[in-house]
Amino acid sequence: MSNKFSTFICQNCGSETSQYFGRCLNCNEWNTIVEERKNTRSKITSVNKNKKSKLFNEIEIGNISRFTSGFKEFDRVLGGGIVPGSIVLLGGEPGIGKSTIVLQSAGKISLNEKVLYITAEESLEQVKIRWERLNQSSLDLKIYAETNLSLIIEEIKKIKPGFAIIDSIQAINNDEMESSPGSVSQVRTCSSELQNLAKENNIALLIIGHVTKDGALAGPKTLEHLVDVVLNFEGDNIASHRLLRSVKNRFGSTFEIGIFEMLENGLREVINPSSIFTNKENIAGVTTTITNEGSRPFAVDIQALVNKTFYNNPRRTTTGMSINRLHQILAVIEKHVGIKLSEYDCYIATGGGFEINDPSSDLGVAISILSSLKNIPPLINCAFIGELGLSGQVRQASNIRAKIDEAIRLGIKNILLPKITSEIKDSFQKFIQIKEISNINEAINYAL
Ligand code: TYD
Ligand code: MG
Repeated sequence: MSNKFSTFICQNCGSETSQYFGRCLNCNEWNTIVEERKNTRSKITSVNKNKKSKLFNEIEIGNISRFTSGFKEFDRVLGGGIVPGSIVLLGGEPGIGKSTIVLQSAGKISLNEKVLYITAEESLEQVKIRWERLNQSSLDLKIYAETNLSLIIEEIKKIKPGFAIIDSIQAINNDEMESSPGSVSQVRTCSSELQNLAKENNIALLIIGHVTKDGALAGPKTLEHLVDVVLNFEGDNIASHRLLRSVKNRFGSTFEIGIFEMLENGLREVINPSSIFTNKENIAGVTTTITNEGSRPFAVDIQALVNKTFYNNPRRTTTGMSINRLHQILAVIEKHVGIKLSEYDCYIATGGGFEINDPSSDLGVAISILSSLKNIPPLINCAFIGELGLSGQVRQASNIRAKIDEAIRLGIKNILLPKITSEIKDSFQKFIQIKEISNINEAINYAL
């Protein structure tokens, strides 16, 4: 089956082979290998002969002048704004709101920069309908509906925008290639040609890409190494909250997230996220923890439901946290508090389904489990912070000052946490009742 004109490319991971396989040898996905014609034409790229190698002290760093995306949340995830000449890849499931956020942002950027929005999926009229819904004002924003790569490149050269958007890369077609739009080789060559154009002309380029069923960007690795920043737009289509997460960033941290809410007239940034993931009622099975996402702490509720089981294997499910972490916390409670949890089903859900990865939320999970089991509400108006060690001790939490600060800002009156320095304690105890604990049993005595 192999011949010198074609190659076989996995549409899931982008790996190439010289013959057809039913299952990809690299990512093990079935039926993802597609035959694609090799592109035999060679491309002439411009060569700069004046470049030479330099010592560090000969290299001058100019100021990175960024421009704002129009959203504070978006800017923070980007590391402070959009860098001219940079390439940003924005991935997300269809319908999550990628075109919406980008169009809103384009409107705001166009007040200061020339912007070109290239839509390869929708007509000009469709974009205008969305635009009117978003109630935007703009100065220098042009829309171009085209799928052909060479026409797009010509238009960009003609308009010379400071910021250009491709919506989406999977719909763009390089007619020099025989494979269909959206295939790995099309996505790869279209992206690299657009990248060359953007770098040569100092255009900030934002490329939208759809994700495949398992959450990876189509042709993922081949695109990710090309671009400067990779962002994911996440959330489910039912709830209105959307998270913008940075996966790779050559100009900033990859831990930042931005939070948005999808409303009737577009996306609104959520400046005070703690308020949407917590609910100040005092109910059995619900605690509040302060978790870290990027450089920012915010409060999230943890809800537990613990019931006598009717199954041979008790049921354990989680929404918003790892199931393995729950198993570990249950094992610690069983061993060090002496409760036979193997007779109970346990369900955990975080407020708004928010994904918590910070281990210092363990204490909140443990107390909400015990509170549901005993049917006693935990200490009123209290935040729980601390990682549970396997021997039942409560271990240090990162970024503790910022977490206490956030609790105070939210008007929380009590906070349970691992040992802190007297200096930290002195600076906060005027504002909040601080209770330091060293193990799970002390926490139970105090809070339940
Ligand atoms: P869209 O930006 O088209 O998603 P993507 O480009 O990621 O495929 O968003 C589509 C969804 O967003 C659609 O289901 C309707 C909803 N939506 C709103 O709720 N409010 C709005 O103002 C807009 C423009 C869209
Ligand atoms: Mg879209």
